[in-house]
Amino acid sequence: MERLHGIKACVFDAYGTLFDVHAPVRRLAAEIGARADDISRLWRQKQLEYTWLRSLMGVHADFWHVTSDALDYALEQHGVSEPGLKDELMALYLKLDAYPEVVDALEAVKAKSKLTAILSNGSPSMLDSMVRHAGLERHFNFVLSVEDVGIYKPSRRVYRHAMHKLQMQDAASVCFVSANCWDAQAAAQFGFQSVRVDRFGLKDDRIPGRPAAYIPDLSGLAALL
Ligand code: 2OP
Repeated sequence: MERLHGIKACVFDAYGTLFDVHAPVRRLAAEIGARADDISRLWRQKQLEYTWLRSLMGVHADFWHVTSDALDYALEQHGVSEPGLKDELMALYLKLDAYPEVVDALEAVKAKSKLTAILSNGSPSMLDSMVRHAGLERHFNFVLSVEDVGIYKPSRRVYRHAMHKLQMQDAASVCFVSANCWDAQAAAQFGFQSVRVDRFGLKDDRIPGRPAAYIPDLSGLAALL
């Protein structure tokens, strides 16, 4: 098991890492029908694509706007137009289930006297709603949104913002944790000691940056610190 050294803070991605983005569609799968999984995957794919495209275009909109646009695309692409379904899915997106091991994993990290923070594309109100619904407020020293910076991950400006808020001088004193390959790799390229939570059995993307460690879920994180 690889060990990380000199870690003072653990910074967590939110969607896909702490919280299950596929929970809303799974909850309404009976209404949505056979294409529910395809719709959820396309929703997530378009949501992330729109963050990257808007960042490159220089036309920012917050994650609620982007998530809503991506859901419109996914539902239209699959010919689903049940009245009220979109609003119900968006409302569920404010109350995503935390993965089952999250609370114990965060407590184990706090027991090692590490600062903890979220660094997410989510808007402040989305993150506040989700963290409160999951009862995780007391587990984080900071909940940081890209809205403070006005551009999405993997912009270096976002990772630098976390260092500034956590008052870290050395990027290597931050352990960055994400289940999103591109996010974990970009954070490693930035200089964080990056840990990828390999929830979905994925390979690293062919982009710069290699995580320092891989864990199947968050229960293995504290042992690395
Ligand atoms: C997050 O920023 C990458 O969507 C993911 O929480």
